[in-house]
Amino acid sequence: MTTLITNIGQLVNTREESTLLRGVALAGLPTIENAFLLVEDGIIADYGAMYELELKVPQLPKNIIDAHEQFVLPTWCDSHTHIVFAKTREEEFIDKIKGMSYAEIAAKGGGILNSSSKLNEASEDELFNSAWKRMEEVIKLGTGAIEIKSGYGLTVEGELKMLRVIKKLKEKASIPVKATFLGAHTYPLAFKENHTGYINQIINDMLPVIANEGLADYIDCFCETGFFSPEEMEIICRAGQGFGLKPKLHVNQLNSIGGIESAIKLNALSVDHLETMTDNDVKFLSGSTVIGTLLPTAAFFLRMNYQPARQLIDAGCAIALASDYNPGSSPSGNMNFVVAVSCIQMKMLPEEAINAATINAAFAMELEKELGSITIGKKANLIFTKPVPSLAYLPYSFGANLIDKVMINGEFV
Ligand code: NIG
Ligand code: FE
Repeated sequence: MTTLITNIGQLVNTREESTLLRGVALAGLPTIENAFLLVEDGIIADYGAMYELELKVPQLPKNIIDAHEQFVLPTWCDSHTHIVFAKTREEEFIDKIKGMSYAEIAAKGGGILNSSSKLNEASEDELFNSAWKRMEEVIKLGTGAIEIKSGYGLTVEGELKMLRVIKKLKEKASIPVKATFLGAHTYPLAFKENHTGYINQIINDMLPVIANEGLADYIDCFCETGFFSPEEMEIICRAGQGFGLKPKLHVNQLNSIGGIESAIKLNALSVDHLETMTDNDVKFLSGSTVIGTLLPTAAFFLRMNYQPARQLIDAGCAIALASDYNPGSSPSGNMNFVVAVSCIQMKMLPEEAINAATINAAFAMELEKELGSITIGKKANLIFTKPVPSLAYLPYSFGANLIDKVMINGEFV
């Protein structure tokens, strides 16, 4: 099917080719005012200014959509989520309001371990159905690609169950889904004093099955004091790499303990969180090819310091934005809010935040050939805004629903 979208107020993030953006380049957001966009069989076939329409599309298709006063953007790429979980955790939310810290809750058997015991009791169907609802919810909010992690199983059966659910989501979803194995999320109680035992279970009992069934694209590890050390992360990730899984890692949320350096050594695709960064961490990251994925709504929800976005950008790091949608530290997958918080609290320019949540985020999940910009040949996964006065109005008027409709593979959802 061919669809022509005409009179677009502003067509945002139009690029002939895709490059990972760093430094000042992150603020460059190409747009076309009063534009058209041609979609053929779910793929962007052409675009340009309205005055070029006659020349570029001499034969108008039957299906024409008028987008007068609307902004059209590529959908968000959410490169870091944990949307497969059994139960929400509002009790801990209340504990935090009353003064407990995230680390204190975790030390009491709450947090990840709480989600783990609930996940192990849930059936594959229950997990699939609730994750499917979350995915449908975020697609309506403009997410056009999503990465999903395991990590609430923490047993061989539990981790494999989660990954099989993610595989099913991948097969049935209208948007691209990437799967990440996060067996190293925390040490299960039974292995609290026997780290080697759990690491061996990951390497010998989980990874071979995961590889054999094609259950994951990436391997992750929560590298923090009280969780996994950089040395343990390296052992786990090297084993994962042996099975073809690229590292995509949780580092520097709570502590700076060398996770960035280890991730660079491991040639990770991305290092995610980055609330706690030393000057050296920033320097190492800026000199590497590793993408820094900032998760500001986790800092927002946990009342932590935000990621030093300005320092990272000014140092030349390649940064992306993601939601971290999970029941403990970011119970929202609303990427519009992620973009708004990035501008409001981390002082990112609207152009920088939009690039970080689209093109750079596509790179952070290796989808830059398919998504992340308005480029001929990429998927027509698009956000149509309501009439807004400017692009900056989107993060400025945070919390308002400014999305009129979302197109996935050339069709409105
Ligand atoms: O990315 N910090 C580790 N993992 C998740 C939170 C998991 C949880 O609290 O359930 C995160 O923030
Ligand atoms: Fe996370």
